[in-house]
Parts: sequence; structure tokens; C-alpha cells
Amino acid sequence: MSKPIYVLSGPNLNLLGVREPEIYGYETLEDIRVLCEERAAVFGFEAVCRQSNHEGELVAWIQEARTEASAVVINAAAYTHTSVAILDALKMLKIPTVECHLSNPATREAFRHHSYLSPVVTGVVAGFGSNSYLLAVEAAARLVNAAAAKA
Ligand code: DQA
Repeated sequence: MSKPIYVLSGPNLNLLGVREPEIYGYETLEDIRVLCEERAAVFGFEAVCRQSNHEGELVAWIQEARTEASAVVINAAAYTHTSVAILDALKMLKIPTVECHLSNPATREAFRHHSYLSPVVTGVVAGFGSNSYLLAVEAAARLVNAAAAKA
């Protein structure tokens, strides 16, 4: 059995469904967890979905992913725009990493236009609501499976 795909969510995403639903939608993070698990299973993976409002906890999970995960999908939320610590943690990974966002930060306030993560991840999915998570999980799973088929 392959190692799981880690799906990490950052601050305030625990309140999805009630938090600015006109921007982030009405689905809860629990709804998204179920959908991610289903999508990962289609490609033969388990999705391990975790959320934290604490930067250090996200860093610890990224470090854990070095040995315990096949790939990482991360919506770092506001830390996307502030966190050198998450950038540094992601730089240590040798597995596929996908930055994901429900909204498209490029179309929003200027302070959301810069991502510390984008330069060091494999790819970015943004602007598709909860589908961003599913597309990100699928992209990660396909990358891992393609690499395994080549090996
Ligand atoms: C977000 C976009 C970020 O700018 C914001 O701080 C979030 C959510 C998104 O998923 O669209 O909390 O990452």
C-alpha cells in the first residue's frame, strides 16, 4: 500500500461553510475531507486530512510528510502570504507538493497576490472552490503513480 497523501489546511479553514461563504462556499471542511478521501481512493491512495490554526503545527506535519506521505496538498490559507517557515519546510520535501486555494487569490486584495509557497511547490490549483482540493489531490496522485510506473 502506498503512503497516504497529506491534505493540510491552515488557519480559519475549520470554519468553512460559515466563513465568508460568498467567497469560500457553503461546504464544510468535513465535507471536503470526505470528498478528498473518495478522490484519493480512486487513485489507490488514502488521504490524511488535517487542519490547524497554528503555523508550527503545519510545519511539523510537513516535516512528518518527508517520511510518511506520498505527496502533500496544502491550503496554507493566510500563512500562504506570510510564512517563511512553511516555505522552508516545503523545500525539504522530495515528494510532489500542490498548493491549493478555494478562491483565486490573484483576483483579490493585493496582499494576497504574493505566495511564499508557489516558488517551491510542484504546482498550484486555485479558484475552483472545494474542487480545488479534489483537483489538487488528483494531480498529486497522478504524479506519484506516474513516477512509480516509471521506476
Ligand atoms: C485561501 C486564500 C487566502 O488568501 C486566505 O487567507 C484563506 C483562504 C483560499 O483557500 O482561497 O484563508 O487560502
